Amino acid sequence: MMIMSKTQSPKPIYLKDYQPPAFNIQQIDLVFQLFDDYCDVSATLNIKRNPLNKSNQADLILNGEGLELKAIALNNQSILDQSSTYQQDAEFLTLFNIPDQCQLSTRVRIYPHLNTALEGLYRSASMFCTQCEAEGFRKITFFPDRPDVMSIFNCRIEADKKAYPILLSNGNPQQQADLADNRHYATWADPYPKPCYLFALVAGDLKRISAQHTTPSNKKIDLHIYVEAENIDKCDYAMESLIHAMQWDEQKYGREYDLSVYNIVAVNDFNMGAMENKGLNIFNSKYVLASPDTATDREYQGVEGVIAHEYFHNWTGNRITCRDWFQLSLKEGLTVFRDQEFSADMGARAVKRIEDVSMLRAHQFAEDASPMAHPVRPSSYIEINNFYTLTIYEKGAEVVRMQANLLGEANYRKATDLYFQRFDGQAVTTDDFVQCMADVSDIDFSQFKHWYDYAGTPTVRIKTEYLEKTQQFKCIIQQSIPDTPDQSNKPPFHIPLRVALFAPNGQQIKAILNGDLQQQNEWVLDLRQENQTFIFEQVQEKPILSALRGFSAPVHLKIDYSEDELFFLMAKDTDGFNRWNICQKIVMQQLLSLIKQDSNDWHLNPKLINAYRQALNLSTDNAGLLTELMTIPDENYIAEYQGKNVDVEIVHQAREWFISTLADSLKDDLKALYFKLNQPNTFRIDADAIAQRSLKNSILAWLMRLDHKDIQHACLAQYQAQQNMTDVLSALILIVNSKMTERQMVLDDFYQRWEKSPLVLDKWFMVQAKSQHPDCLSQIKTLMNNPHFSLKNPNKVRSLIGVFANANPLYFHAADGSGYDFFATQIMALDPLNPQISARMMRTFATYKNYDQVRQDKIQQVIKQILTLPNISKDLLEVAQKCLDD
Ligand code: TRP
Ligand code: ZN
Repeated sequence: MMIMSKTQSPKPIYLKDYQPPAFNIQQIDLVFQLFDDYCDVSATLNIKRNPLNKSNQADLILNGEGLELKAIALNNQSILDQSSTYQQDAEFLTLFNIPDQCQLSTRVRIYPHLNTALEGLYRSASMFCTQCEAEGFRKITFFPDRPDVMSIFNCRIEADKKAYPILLSNGNPQQQADLADNRHYATWADPYPKPCYLFALVAGDLKRISAQHTTPSNKKIDLHIYVEAENIDKCDYAMESLIHAMQWDEQKYGREYDLSVYNIVAVNDFNMGAMENKGLNIFNSKYVLASPDTATDREYQGVEGVIAHEYFHNWTGNRITCRDWFQLSLKEGLTVFRDQEFSADMGARAVKRIEDVSMLRAHQFAEDASPMAHPVRPSSYIEINNFYTLTIYEKGAEVVRMQANLLGEANYRKATDLYFQRFDGQAVTTDDFVQCMADVSDIDFSQFKHWYDYAGTPTVRIKTEYLEKTQQFKCIIQQSIPDTPDQSNKPPFHIPLRVALFAPNGQQIKAILNGDLQQQNEWVLDLRQENQTFIFEQVQEKPILSALRGFSAPVHLKIDYSEDELFFLMAKDTDGFNRWNICQKIVMQQLLSLIKQDSNDWHLNPKLINAYRQALNLSTDNAGLLTELMTIPDENYIAEYQGKNVDVEIVHQAREWFISTLADSLKDDLKALYFKLNQPNTFRIDADAIAQRSLKNSILAWLMRLDHKDIQHACLAQYQAQQNMTDVLSALILIVNSKMTERQMVLDDFYQRWEKSPLVLDKWFMVQAKSQHPDCLSQIKTLMNNPHFSLKNPNKVRSLIGVFANANPLYFHAADGSGYDFFATQIMALDPLNPQISARMMRTFATYKNYDQVRQDKIQQVIKQILTLPNISKDLLEVAQKCLDD
């Protein structure tokens, strides 16, 4: 039979075309016969017509790609030679006219060792593993590869016993025994029906650490984390995090785990962070392995957050899954919200919120303003892998957070209890989720749902007016939603805006707002109209408005504050988030005014220097918040904020000048604080210790701009002390970007220490990819030939190529276009190996309209060149095309 190749112009899939599946698969029994250079997969499907599908479609259509069909039988009768009963093309296996109930068995051969796309069954180092979300199961066997087909999975794995002593799949372990030819097998059974994207298999020579967790209903669960032998000492933090996550979900959501084992496997080659396969999570090793000398504090937090995220999916994703991929945010937005709140409870809540918002604003807002903009619930897509976006994840989490805040803690818990009870075992929609919020409260969520349906970040403009005579304070508020690709003239949203009022003496004011029964000192204003005025009564003196407290909605906020009001709020707001937010606003205003002026006229507002001096002197109890205040918006964010005709060189110079001038003005305070914080102490990984280290390293980063010998020595000493990876890496980055003669020596030292540790070596690549030295790009090209670099390993690609394009704007946007050419060349080299990664890299170009005409032209040229790539993947094609049509 001829296998046709995929067409060059892939068609979009539309939400409005959704139909329930014509057939359900009640059970699938799988057998994997693994060999080093191929794998035979046998599958038996119990098929039953689905009464919910009204089309009366006679044919059973199964997905299947790249499968060599070796055997096929219907109700135990081979039909391999009956070409009139079935047909295979590049994407489907169609069985003509099948009975309403039947059993189909197939055997296919696949080649995991050739699978560089890391989707389906593939090899990572010496092991076999799988990645099926979103549509990878079709590369393993023939099946209706869609999330609303939920089946019982049984799985038997056979492999060489010596090379693959560990054989894992979903659910609970059944039998394990030896076979002929030094082989063995294991069987697994998952009692919970699930969509095939949650299927997983692992085979390899792995070691494990184990623990036990007892649930509130007294069920004992065995927890195992599997890694390669050399990493066995780096799993403890992941295990601790898992147990914390289980306890947290029991307390906060009343959710218990439901199998007798929970397995986690760390692999080095992985497209994303991790995957929530039922009972068998597969992780990018970056989010499992951590030890003080190999992982930074950020990475520890990443492990805690991602372990929790995947665990939380067991209820929000697995027990209740998505009806179709348009509903992806049903599981991802909700699960991100859950992991954010978990991390806030484990660490420093205010700091966590600032980090999340700052990420959202820097990256999701940019996506929402770019040609890649799409709603939290998209209405069409070409390649679903391209929709695992910041909008689905992070904006989706904000949309759930707003609902949780609107309901309040008790009602939100009622709503989620109802959600779990009503939809357990089903594949549902975001509407179903919101309905639960509505059903337990008297809130009308119909307008709120615009957050799911319309793309673009709303802007909220506030004007205020104080009427002394009537003691009234008026907030005149306007909202507007920008046009985005395919969407214009959007209706107003329901925007919850949390506000408070301050008297000039710093007191939070009590007042009465339309309809309040008594005075309050904080309000959530429900914006529902394009223009709306709120009047606060009994306000004795002209107040200062603190708005969007805690970032109560994902919007751009525009208020015209006087300079004094800004500095007042930066120092006095009782909402830590807002102090930071106002500080960012002040800093951004300063930076933008520098950018507009001739550099000979540059000067810093002395009030800002004072504000920082005060913050520094307030003691270090609030080290976490202080670090955030000291975090100056990065060059990409400044560029995004500026929005058009960005001159990357001026942005860079202005920012550097700004930080070094601040550092110079504050050098005595900063040095004193640095040396006070830089005391040797035993390593702890709690919120306090993390805050102290991050403050210390932020201070060091400011001071290193001054080229003072004493600080350079201190920085080198910090590197050499090798206390922990946070301190080592911070020092390394600063030394590499300084004029110190030790630069190369320190880089070489780091390499020699960590050459054999892939995750640590990623940081060595990253440091050089971000280097501010003019030889940066030529160094990167040299590094591509390093024996430890490989285009086939996503972590390496992200560390070297991704970091260059996304975190080194000065050289990526070099005026001669050399950065663009290099990046485009790599994308084209990657595409045939791993389309998910090439397409993800491509997104960097989506904001190109922000730059000057010369750069825009150069980027357009390379995008067009990429579009001529022979056999371009549909992943890359979709992103590249969208970049251009704006
Ligand atoms: N569901 C995973 C998560 O967010 C995401 C994921 C892991 C994924 N691997 C993937 C998505 C591969 C697409 C392709 O937890
Ligand atoms: Zn997820």
